Amino acid sequence: MVAYERMARAVKSLLGIDLSQYKPAQVWRRVNGFATARGLPDPDGLVAKVRQDAALKQAFLDMLTINVSEFFRNPEAWSALVGQFLKPMLTSQLSVRIWSAGCSLGYEPFTIAMLAREIAPATPVYILASDLDETILSRARKATYTEQQMAGVSPARRARFFRKMDSGWEVKPEIQALVTWRRHDLLKDPYEKPFDLICCRNVVIYFTEAAKTALYKRFADSLRPNGLLFLGATESIPNARTVGLQPNGLTFYRRP
Ligand SMILES: C[S@@+](CC[C@H](N)C(=O)[O-])C[C@H]1O[C@@H](n2cnc3c(N)ncnc32)[C@H](O)[C@@H]1O
Repeated sequence: MVAYERMARAVKSLLGIDLSQYKPAQVWRRVNGFATARGLPDPDGLVAKVRQDAALKQAFLDMLTINVSEFFRNPEAWSALVGQFLKPMLTSQLSVRIWSAGCSLGYEPFTIAMLAREIAPATPVYILASDLDETILSRARKATYTEQQMAGVSPARRARFFRKMDSGWEVKPEIQALVTWRRHDLLKDPYEKPFDLICCRNVVIYFTEAAKTALYKRFADSLRPNGLLFLGATESIPNARTVGLQPNGLTFYRRP
């Protein structure tokens, strides 16, 4: 597909994203849909416009990386994580290291930070929050959310962990202090280690199987023995053992 390769080359040079590790059929469908929605004839027309239009360039990046997220996304999975893993870990270890990989606007690392403080107010917790998209990270660092974005946060948690502002809510400094933000490309950059828990949810959906396998191997290597990988509700790792992980309930994988 010559047109696809042309678009992929342009995306690499303009946005720094290597589409060779993404599933082409899905990417092509989304890029065409995006071009049509913007009134552009085809991906070539889209790329030409993206070269001149910074806002469109950002929207194109947002579309490709998909940064949709929310606090306590899939609440049942968080409840399971708390009961099976976070509680035992936070109450038995001297300190805990957690990575939210593909953290988008910060909902996930702040969800973890709130839970950690509820479970063990005094245990030192390091939460690395990383994302490919610098623009989204700079918004996450502000730690402010509109009323609409706060949908998943109960009144009790709002009162305890947020400060009400004229428009919206700000995460309190003691919760912000638990999170370290970093621009990081999961497909290219070295992985920090060790971690007790790695959350990588709804990030790799469009990656090729080969890219996912390589990434899961690297996550396994970054986990402490007995550490946990937490995936999105629709994600799973077939043949988890071949990447060095062991299924542990729905969407959880443990490093033996
Ligand atoms: C749908 S959001 C998921 C946010 C959160 N983990 C959740 O489940 O709600 C996907 C995020 O992954 C990021 N992302 C996509 N590709 C990435 C890569 N190669 N490296 C790091 N982050 C990436 C996107 O920028 C986006 O913010």
